[in-house]
Amino acid sequence: MTNDVTRTAVVTGASSGIGAATVRTLTAEGWTVFALARREGKLAALAEETGCTPVVADITDEESTSAAVETILAAGPVKALVNCAGGAIGKDPVATANLDDWRAMYELNVLGTLRITQKLLPALKESAGTVLVISSTAGIEPYEGGAGYCASKFAEKVMARVLRLELIGEPVRVVDIAPGMVQTDEFSIKRFHGDAAKAAAVYAGVPDPLKAEDVAECVRWALDQPDTVDVDNIVVRPRAEGSYTKVHRES
Ligand SMILES: NC(=O)c1ccc[n+]([C@@H]2O[C@H](COP(=O)([O-])OP(=O)(O)OC[C@H]3O[C@@H](n4cnc5c(N)ncnc54)[C@H](OP(=O)(O)O)[C@@H]3O)[C@@H](O)[C@H]2O)c1
Repeated sequence: MTNDVTRTAVVTGASSGIGAATVRTLTAEGWTVFALARREGKLAALAEETGCTPVVADITDEESTSAAVETILAAGPVKALVNCAGGAIGKDPVATANLDDWRAMYELNVLGTLRITQKLLPALKESAGTVLVISSTAGIEPYEGGAGYCASKFAEKVMARVLRLELIGEPVRVVDIAPGMVQTDEFSIKRFHGDAAKAAAVYAGVPDPLKAEDVAECVRWALDQPDTVDVDNIVVRPRAEGSYTKVHRES
C-alpha cells in the first residue's frame, strides 16, 4: 500500500475523546489516518466507522512503539504526527500526592510523547511534515491539586517549543494546541480513578464546555495550513472559561 504523502497522519490516543474525534475529522477531510492506542476493540470500531488503520500500541513501551512505527512506515511516508495520548491521574495536593500517579503521567504525557515523536521524526523530515502536540492550559497556568498533571503538561509544552527551535531551517512544523475544559467521556473518570460523581462535578453547570470535535477542528485547521506556515500555539477554551479557576457555572 502506498500512502498519499501529502495527507497521511498518525494520531495517538485515538481510541477515545480528542484523539478519536481527530481521526473522524481528518478522515472525513480525506486524510489517511493511522489510529494508535492500546484498546483494540475501540480502534476496530473506529476503523469500521472511518476507514482509519488501527495500530494497537502502548507509547510507554519501547518495543511496542518501535513495532508500531515500523508497521506505519512500511506503508509509506507520513505527513503528520498528532500526539493526543495523555491524561491526568489524581488531583491530590503536593503534600500527599501519590508518586505512582505522577510517574504514570510523566511516562505517558512526557516520555511517551517524546518516544513516538523521536521515532517518527526522520520520516517527518523527509515529508516536510508536522509534529503536533495536544498539551493543555494546565501547561500554562498551574492550579491547586494539579501539580503533577500541570508539571507534565508544562514539560510537554517545553518539549514542543524546544523541538521547534532545534528544527529551525529544517522542513518540519511543530504545533502546540492547548485546550482548556473539554468534556470527553473518559478524561475526568480516569483522573478520579473511576469516581463518576467527582468527574461529573468538573463540568457541572458549565454552559457548553468544549467538545472533542472542537479541538479536532483546531488540529485540522493547523495541519491544513501551507507547509511554510507554522501555527506555533493555539489556546482554545469554552467561552465560559477564563482560566482554570475562573469558570462560569449556571445554577
Ligand atoms: N479533556 C480535557 O479537558 C483536556 C483538556 C486539555 C488537554 N487534554 C489533553 O488531551 C489529550 C486527550 O484527552 P481526552 O480528553 O481525549 O482523554 P481520553 O479520552 O482519556 O483519551 C486518552 C487517550 O490516550 C490513550 N492512551 C492512554 N495511555 C496510552 C498509552 N500508554 N499508549 C497509547 N495510547 C494511550 C487512550 O487510549 P487507550 O487507553 O486505548 O490506550 C485514549 O485514547 C490528553 O493529552 C489530555 O491531557 C484534555
